[in-house]
Amino acid sequence: MSGLFITVEGSEGSGKSTGCAHLQSRFEQCGHRVVLTREPGGTRLGEVLRDIVLTRDDLACTAMSELLIVFAARAQHLADVIEPALARGDIVLCDRFTEASYAYQGAGRELGNEAVRVLEQLVHSERQPDLTLLLDVSPEIGLARAKSAGRLDKIERESMAFFERVRSGYLERARAHPERIRVIDGGPEPSEVQRVLWSTAAELATARGLAC
Ligand SMILES: Nc1ncnc2c1ncn2[C@@H]1O[C@H](COP(=O)(O)OP(=O)(O)OP(=O)(O)O)[C@@H](O)[C@H]1O
Ligand SMILES: [Mg+2]
Repeated sequence: MSGLFITVEGSEGSGKSTGCAHLQSRFEQCGHRVVLTREPGGTRLGEVLRDIVLTRDDLACTAMSELLIVFAARAQHLADVIEPALARGDIVLCDRFTEASYAYQGAGRELGNEAVRVLEQLVHSERQPDLTLLLDVSPEIGLARAKSAGRLDKIERESMAFFERVRSGYLERARAHPERIRVIDGGPEPSEVQRVLWSTAAELATARGLAC
């Protein structure tokens, strides 16, 4: 028995957390067990590492160090949360996954795709999401939303050029993997974005024989 692994990606304020909560409730209404989790994080180790990446601007941390930290968190997350849930047949909804490493460390921090690919191969060569929902918004819109939602973290204080590279990095990955990564316009009002997210996720679930 294998469940369904759906990741939700996009830059700051693109609507990932809002979208994940909506998908969770829709799948649960259909009687499915859902594990909602996030990266970096999702385990005790992962949450400590998340704090280092997002808040510890008092610590020197190179782009390569940051990449290795997010993959260390990911290895623990796969072992403790994602793989056991999929083995039970649950639906796993993950708020960011490896596409975020391509976008933020590969493109945003300009490490390039190859460094990310090497670690992806090492950490989860046998596992890819069944579906990646990429919420696309301009950095201006996303950052304005993130700002109005609360304090800006370390990454959210990066330059506009950084966020433009992140957005382009995500879109380039979507062009290279159209079979898995679906780009969804995150600009419209929440109910419209959620409608598209759900119809895309439900289409996959139905194709896999899960009633919804
Ligand atoms: N489609 C939308 N239109 C307008 N506001 C939205 C929309 N979707 C979410 N928001 C609001 O924007 C803010 C950021 O949304 P959300 O937390 O879902 O984004 P996120 O992608 O998870 O952000 P982060 O990267 O900071 O975790 C929230 O206050 C949320 O209510
Ligand atoms: Mg969020």
